[in-house]
Amino acid sequence: MNYKFETATVIGTGMMGPGIALTLALGGVRATILSRKEDSARNGLTKAFEQLALIREHALAPADRCDRAATLIDSSADFDASIAQADLVVESAPEDMKFKQELFARMDRLAKPTAALASNTSGLSITAIQSACRNPSRVVTTHFWNPPHLMPLVEIVKGRHTDHSLAVALKKLLEDCGKVGIIVKRDTPGQLGNRLQMALVREAVNIVQEGIADVEDVDLCAKSGFGLRLPVYGIFEHQDMVGLDMSSSIVNYVAQDLNNDPKAPQLMNDLVAQGKLGVKTGQGFYDWSVKDPAAVRARRDAFVLDFLKRWRQ
Ligand SMILES: NC(=O)c1ccc[n+]([C@@H]2O[C@H](COP(=O)([O-])OP(=O)(O)OC[C@H]3O[C@@H](n4cnc5c(N)ncnc54)[C@H](O)[C@@H]3O)[C@@H](O)[C@H]2O)c1
Repeated sequence: MNYKFETATVIGTGMMGPGIALTLALGGVRATILSRKEDSARNGLTKAFEQLALIREHALAPADRCDRAATLIDSSADFDASIAQADLVVESAPEDMKFKQELFARMDRLAKPTAALASNTSGLSITAIQSACRNPSRVVTTHFWNPPHLMPLVEIVKGRHTDHSLAVALKKLLEDCGKVGIIVKRDTPGQLGNRLQMALVREAVNIVQEGIADVEDVDLCAKSGFGLRLPVYGIFEHQDMVGLDMSSSIVNYVAQDLNNDPKAPQLMNDLVAQGKLGVKTGQGFYDWSVKDPAAVRARRDAFVLDFLKRWRQ
């Protein structure tokens, strides 16, 4: 099928919705932020304009694109009309399977036959979500990474019944919006990025649990070692550079000793049981009563902005 994306509706005004709508507007799509109430829809629009100001300030998109985006984005609390006029709906509402299935069934009834229906789900099965629709082939995951107006990656995850040409059309659209779209061919837990990330988290906690190294040193190892090249040098590029003969012998030797449990290591579960949930309770792997979370976030944001500025050029 030939998809065209001139108008989009983004459901949700929380952490993700406004940045997704702004992304689409930067790609030339007329984007409506949809909420249940007028005032929260307007708040969502305000957030999107704040994000646009940041993008302008750091020249992360050409000025004329920013000017155009400002004219293309609006808000609404009229669910039926917003869904009915959209070529693309991106749902970024609560992460709950029953809720999303009911929402998609409703959207499937209201949307134009040619419209695409996407979920920003972080991990729910899009195959299960699309099973609630009469036309499951137009249902797909577009998983934006937080914060969505800055992070380049969007995972386009196909459910069992998703039309492949829809995934291809969305990849092109997202690239026009300045994003990096990747197609995940099969709907599995963790999609793609979180599969990689969780494998690393499990081993990092295991290393601390086994007394191989301390928390601070594991973080330093990631930040000043292999992590430093990851933004520019993919995993497989690196493997080919070092040579698969050497690399496979290292994997064969090390893999026998890696944590392979089908759950989080005990240390992590123990911290949770003790209420040590990280920054929000003041204690996690670090003691956040002495370490300043605002300073750590500011360091991350400055690094990401700096990287994006050079990456966009
Ligand atoms: N926060 C993240 O880091 C992140 C990253 C990637 C994907 N996601 C996914 O994006 C989706 C939204 O996450 P979020 O962090 O933006 O959530 P959030 O809680 O910040 O926002 C959810 C939004 O949904 C709205 N909402 C609640 N009930 C609703 C209803 N019945 N109908 C319509 N809207 C309703 C809320 O008002 C709110 O605007 C989830 O599926 C989540 O898994 C989140």
